[in-house]
Amino acid sequence: MATRHFLSLLDLTPQELQQLIDRAIELKAMHKRREVHEPLKNRVLAMIFEKSSTRTRVSFEAGMTQLGGSALFLSPRDTQLGRGEPVEDSARVLSQMVDAVMIRTFEHATVETFAAHSEVPVINALTDFNHPCQLLADMQAYHEVRGSIQGKTVAWIGDGNNMCHSYINAARQWGFELRVACPEGYDPDAELVQANKDRVQIVRRPEDAVQGAHLVATDVWASMGQEEESAQRLGIFAPYQVSPQLMDKADPQALFMHCLPAHRGEEVSHDMLDDPRSVVWEEAGNRLHAQKALLEFLLR
Ligand code: CP
Ligand code: NVA
Repeated sequence: MATRHFLSLLDLTPQELQQLIDRAIELKAMHKRREVHEPLKNRVLAMIFEKSSTRTRVSFEAGMTQLGGSALFLSPRDTQLGRGEPVEDSARVLSQMVDAVMIRTFEHATVETFAAHSEVPVINALTDFNHPCQLLADMQAYHEVRGSIQGKTVAWIGDGNNMCHSYINAARQWGFELRVACPEGYDPDAELVQANKDRVQIVRRPEDAVQGAHLVATDVWASMGQEEESAQRLGIFAPYQVSPQLMDKADPQALFMHCLPAHRGEEVSHDMLDDPRSVVWEEAGNRLHAQKALLEFLLR
């Protein structure tokens, strides 16, 4: 059977994605009962991080250990990747030694090139283009608290960035309507929006996006790699802060999500993460369970 990769939510069918969410919920219950479940004994995950991470690194590493396997942390600082060894060569070599490779990098083409030359599954742990692993955790959190998201309305507030792109793919795969409120010039990728125009609508005012929405999500205004734009973005994005007052315009059952790390006083007000409608801590915790389900699926 051909090697399956997870570079985007579109690499799995809607049925497979929902199966992962259901499995993640089961694995979470098993974890809470401290049940030992080690289907990946002796299996090794290589984790290449070209950007910082707390949640992704810890959830993949802890997840592999809990499944009976292990994980290797590889940074460009102390591997030959950082000294210019081609991605293709690294993929050919590493994939003979480990059972799966997880990559967090800048250009999306890097994970695609790696996957094209890898004998083992490659997992995208965030690129400048998308962040599919985070969406598994977000969809799990929504399902746990409110049930199916199909036919619901989701509001994305802020930058049309990697997270926004994964929300667009999620809208297609889980069948929800997505309203993106972003400042002009910070729209999500035009081709991706066009390909999903039946599900995605771009608006300029956050109030128009959240009207009656069942889920409101946001992210930082300057992503990793955009540090020099931070000051300029602070001014441009100021009207896009998510607060309890903005949430009041959404559906009374609306939930709030943020992939974290968050900047209080910027994209979220100081009190937003602790608002009763916020599920950000459950969402973050679900990274562990959703990715364990993904590892089981790809390595079975
Ligand atoms: N949400 C997320 O991917 O967090 P980290 O950058 O800490 O991995
Ligand atoms: N958009 C953010 C997400 C971090 C998890 C970034 O790329 O930095």
